[in-house]
Amino acid sequence: MERWQNKAAIVTGASSGIGAAVCIDLVKAGMTVAALARREERLNALKDSLPKALRGNLHPIRCDVTQEADVIRAFRWVDEHLGGVHVLINNAGVLREGNMTDANNTEYIRAVIDTNIMGVVYATREAFQTMKTKDVAGHIININSIAGHYVPIIPGFLMSIYPASKHAVTAMTETYR
Ligand SMILES: NC(=O)c1ccc[n+]([C@@H]2O[C@H](COP(=O)([O-])OP(=O)(O)OC[C@H]3O[C@@H](n4cnc5c(N)ncnc54)[C@H](OP(=O)(O)O)[C@@H]3O)[C@@H](O)[C@H]2O)c1
Repeated sequence: MERWQNKAAIVTGASSGIGAAVCIDLVKAGMTVAALARREERLNALKDSLPKALRGNLHPIRCDVTQEADVIRAFRWVDEHLGGVHVLINNAGVLREGNMTDANNTEYIRAVIDTNIMGVVYATREAFQTMKTKDVAGHIININSIAGHYVPIIPGFLMSIYPASKHAVTAMTETYR
């Protein structure tokens, strides 16, 4: 982790679960972290959960990754205040039980596609652009799922469009590579 000391990481979906845990670990390992999510109060609570001396190294930023303008604004803030991003963790993701053929499910299907795919598209592009401008050999990590590699059959739990969205993450990761 030495090369990342005092460097900036952006973590999407930082207000709970894996994203919140990653933020804490990165701060404790010496990075400065911009923690992105929609629920700002949870991001503030995450910051408060850190030891006092480390709190200044976590920056909560309200950002809905389905909104391109939000993502651009968040990256601009990191550029201006933290000197650009060195590590991006694309973690924000949504999954709800449902069937792709359920009636009136367009809003949910769009939310999964906009979060799990378009959120990664916007954030990865912005990270790449700033890394290129600043000549940073950064890392971009996409949090995927086993459902991105095969379609799990779980009795009583239908994953709707989620496996398709995570298969897209697998294909996008190879395409970016
Ligand atoms: N947990 C598992 O067993 C598991 C297994 C396989 C893959 N994964 C993947 O791992 C990642 C994290 O999962 P998790 O279980 O930790 O999920 P989680 O606890 O439900 O947290 C999801 C995070 O994503 C954020 N998020 C959702 N929609 C967003 C949006 N439009 N804009 C910004 N942030 C958004 C949520 O924050 P706000 O609601 O505050 O915006 C929250 O912080 C996901 O990509 C998921 O697909 C998880």
